[in-house]
Amino acid sequence: MLINYLNNQEWQINNFNSSSPIGIFDSGLGGLTAVKELKRILPNESIIYFGDTGRVPYGTRSPEIIKKYAVQDISFLLNKNVKFIIAACGTVSSVACEIGDTLPVQFTGVLEPTVKSAINSTKNKKIGVIGTSATIKSQAFFQELKKIDKSLEIFQQDCPLFVPLVENGITSKNDIILQEITRRYLINLKNQEIDTLILGCTHYPIIKESIQEFFGEQVKIIDSGKETALYARKVLKDSNLLNNTENNFKYYFYVSDSCENFKNEAKKFLNLQEDYFAEKINIDEY
Ligand code: DGL
Repeated sequence: MLINYLNNQEWQINNFNSSSPIGIFDSGLGGLTAVKELKRILPNESIIYFGDTGRVPYGTRSPEIIKKYAVQDISFLLNKNVKFIIAACGTVSSVACEIGDTLPVQFTGVLEPTVKSAINSTKNKKIGVIGTSATIKSQAFFQELKKIDKSLEIFQQDCPLFVPLVENGITSKNDIILQEITRRYLINLKNQEIDTLILGCTHYPIIKESIQEFFGEQVKIIDSGKETALYARKVLKDSNLLNNTENNFKYYFYVSDSCENFKNEAKKFLNLQEDYFAEKINIDEY
């Protein structure tokens, strides 16, 4: 019996096999950056995405609320008989990182994959981490990095304005507002001469160009969506759960607020040519 770690309820035990979908969730739209990578790296897989658009942002909330939301998001995905669950959200991955140990399916957040990749990349052992305020406050990236290599120097910065900028379409590297906010948040990390930067939030890959331009090419940027998709491929392969048959209908999107806008954004962002399904659900039922 697997007990849901927050409130002593049982997790639903689901039935899955290799052709079952991968479940992925985020606080909102941002997790589509991870779906884009999954689509590229695992083209045969079906994906069930839950975006908690009715309760975004998570990054400014308390750990108790973030954990409660994470349990509900995961319960919803288990209900859909997914074979693997990804918390694309950097905030959930940091604040509720122990949740995976209690689940009846394999699970990953973004911590482990990104931290490993950052450690492989750094030469001068100076790594920057950026994320939401809840992510940075949790110290989860810091601890995970130090667990592997105590000699690392880690410089962290929360960047609370990045999410609303992205949500409002201010993403061009030529935008002077974005340039100025990028400079203010990241100048300290630049002065510390980091050579590797972890983007610990789903939204940040969308402004990667601007961040890269600020640091220059000498800083390697680690994108959590890409690293997590690569990690998912490895876990599924090792557990014989990769889907080897072509699925006709692959993408299912669920959101907790109106799905019209989300549908259009997802179609555009993922360049979806194939059929897909989108629906609003009541997450409080889970
Ligand atoms: N999805 C969140 C993350 O990756 C960012 C947006 C939010 O604050 O909910 O941390």
